[in-house]
Amino acid sequence: MTVSTRKPISPVVDLRNLPKLVNEKYYPYLKGRNSKSRYFVLWGGGSSGKSVFAAQKIVFRCLSETGHRFLVVRKVKDDLRDSCFQEIKDVIRDWGLEELFYIPTGRSSNLFIKSANGNEILFYGLDDVERRKSIRGITSMWIEEASEITAEDFRQLDIRMRGKTKHYRQIIISFNPISIKHWLKKEFFDTDKGDTVTLHSTYKDNKFLDKQSREVLERFKEIDEYYYIVYCLGQWGILGKTIYPKLVVSKRITDTKDIKPLAQGYFTYDYHMQEIVDKSIKFEHDEEGPIKIFEYPIDQFPYVVGGDTAEGGEDYCTASVRNNITWNQAAVYKDRTDTDLYAKQMYCLGRMYNNALIGIETNFDLHPTKELSRLNYPRQYMRETYDSITKKPQMKLGFKTTKLTRPAVISKHVSLAREHISTFNDYELLEEMLAFVRNEQGKPEAAEGMNDDLIFADAIALEAREQQIQDILDSSDIVLPGGLPGHGGSHNAWDFDKEVGRDDYEDDFDDMDFFGR
Ligand SMILES: Nc1ncnc2c1ncn2[C@@H]1O[C@H](COP(=O)(O)OP(=O)(O)OP(=O)(O)O)[C@@H](O)[C@H]1O
Ligand SMILES: [Mg+2]
Repeated sequence: MTVSTRKPISPVVDLRNLPKLVNEKYYPYLKGRNSKSRYFVLWGGGSSGKSVFAAQKIVFRCLSETGHRFLVVRKVKDDLRDSCFQEIKDVIRDWGLEELFYIPTGRSSNLFIKSANGNEILFYGLDDVERRKSIRGITSMWIEEASEITAEDFRQLDIRMRGKTKHYRQIIISFNPISIKHWLKKEFFDTDKGDTVTLHSTYKDNKFLDKQSREVLERFKEIDEYYYIVYCLGQWGILGKTIYPKLVVSKRITDTKDIKPLAQGYFTYDYHMQEIVDKSIKFEHDEEGPIKIFEYPIDQFPYVVGGDTAEGGEDYCTASVRNNITWNQAAVYKDRTDTDLYAKQMYCLGRMYNNALIGIETNFDLHPTKELSRLNYPRQYMRETYDSITKKPQMKLGFKTTKLTRPAVISKHVSLAREHISTFNDYELLEEMLAFVRNEQGKPEAAEGMNDDLIFADAIALEAREQQIQDILDSSDIVLPGGLPGHGGSHNAWDFDKEVGRDDYEDDFDDMDFFGR
């Protein structure tokens, strides 16, 4: 008779301790409503607990589900043993579950784990060409260090996980955001892929991390900006030389990422006798709309709108609205549209913001400034030029970008970012700023594949502010909008149903001499 010395496998696993073993940030994604998306993107700084959580989730699913064949993938096969394989083994050990798993031992053993209830965990390096064809029947996956693999590799892996399975199918994708131009950003952040949950984390979210490791990450601040941004803050890194202060902008991105605009949408209006009927202008709410509002117009506060028109089909028409006293960014506009419709939206935007001063770039298209004049918009930025024949100074509508004005407005804008970053509210603008780099000729421009239209709109607003009133009209009588976060006062602000024309303000600029207007 042979007597087994192994303890019998206990079918009951006590997981009451789980909330203590899993970092708080990740715990809700272990099970429950938000845990079952097809794509589960774990991204952020170094040592934030992403890999350990991915391992925990696989072990957890092995305990609570059956019929699984998990695939754990990295670019290089040889990296798997000391990373993912070890991490899963550690979880099994830490949770006291060794009896429930079969794990081959030894440095040259197969990378393979099997649970007592029949689930399998396979490990696969993309360089392991021989095994490529034999990987079948995958029910869920973990792609570790996904920034190492190509978009094409990802698509191939994604295809392997089709078909019906007993439990939900999920691809866990974990990585550090090494470059703002990486395909992962386009794939999971810039487009709405659907069935995706993204979870950002930094070392601060990992309560198990030792003090020394924290200090190493924090020290990057003094040593290397790029490392600090990617590994400490967990934000998208920019390779190349940025023009804006990277740290300041990255921090602001972290702060504004989750702030939703107060409203988003576009304007509708009646058009009568070739003019916009002011009283008919309405702001239509639309989550996909080109206008984002961060500050509703405050009565008696002057505003400035800077605008940049599209250079070609791929470009955007943009605008940025700034409060000319606090310089808080009140709204942005970004759309691919024709200049005629753009001018009309600018008209409404300016009207809404207390007949803001509007400065629009005229390099590629004179049309928006002309259209605003034709619509009798009362206040546009004017630039001084010299008449080539008479040699006399002349005032012309709109802003012109030249070899001289371009660096001038950019450097002003960079100083603004350095000194008053808290006035920047639009996440997309901040991202453009991060990706605004010096090219090989030393000219500042958007990194390949990135835009700079919002930067120019905002920089032109800054330039135009000199021509706008910088005082409250009657400072003893400021009425702040009611019902808005951080503001008291009676409800006297734009309520998005009211008409835009403000007669009381109109009186005031009649008195002002705006370049002969
Ligand atoms: N739930 C946990 N229990 C115990 N220790 C943990 C846990 N989560 C994380 N740790 C500890 O924190 C360290 C860092 O975690 P992890 O390796 O998961 O971070 P990461 O986000 O994957 O980092 P990187 O971006 O560098 O890959 C681990 O090596 C481990 O020591
Ligand atoms: Mg990791």
